Amino acid sequence: MQVAIDGPASAGKSTVAKIVAKNLNYIYIDTGAMYRACTLIARDGNVDYSDEKAILNLIDQSTIEFKNEGNEQKVYVNGKDASIAIRTPEITENVSQVSALKGVRQKMVNLQREMAGKNNVIMDGRDIGTTVLPDAQVKIFLIASVASRARRRFLDFKEKGIHQDIADIEHDIEVRDYKDSHRAISPLKKADDAIELDTTNLNIDQVVQEITALIEKNKKN
Ligand code: DC
Repeated sequence: MQVAIDGPASAGKSTVAKIVAKNLNYIYIDTGAMYRACTLIARDGNVDYSDEKAILNLIDQSTIEFKNEGNEQKVYVNGKDASIAIRTPEITENVSQVSALKGVRQKMVNLQREMAGKNNVIMDGRDIGTTVLPDAQVKIFLIASVASRARRRFLDFKEKGIHQDIADIEHDIEVRDYKDSHRAISPLKKADDAIELDTTNLNIDQVVQEITALIEKNKKN
């Protein structure tokens, strides 16, 4: 079974995808983390975020891996835990630019398909239902208002002891939504056969239940 969860930044994709994957014993693949890892690789290699050739070269010399540690999924870049480093504001601000590069997308899509293989997977991102796993049996497009997404991110940051103005977060979300939906190659877009779920007024449990029900229904078909 392949489950694709797409949607804009901070719609809650990874939070619910992780829970559903754990409940059903499926493999969870966070594709946003992979583009963030590419951005970190470019930053650490001191190359311009628009220099596709140099970035591809660096990616070829690097490793990006997911490792499950306890209840958490960690991202390792070149053998080092980069889970925190890939979520800094600097990486968040530049990831849309790096993820818009054709060669970077080709490499990541190949890697994502390889990781999925024939396993039971839940993959979240922007182009999973449209490009990476077009034959996924369950496709969900999660949306929520900008205000509610910013609020969730604000509370997330607060829990981690980071203060960021809610207005700045809203701005970052809007800019990223725009860039992710307007890039030339596989932009953020609802697949024709995806089910749209608006989570503005739903809590995590409710979203988990909805998605689980869709998967269960599909298993019977
Ligand atoms: O889900 P996230 O916020 O961690 O994703 C970071 C960025 O990566 C996002 O702004 C766009 C890009 N991305 C992408 O282009 N395609 C994906 N499948 C996943 C993420």
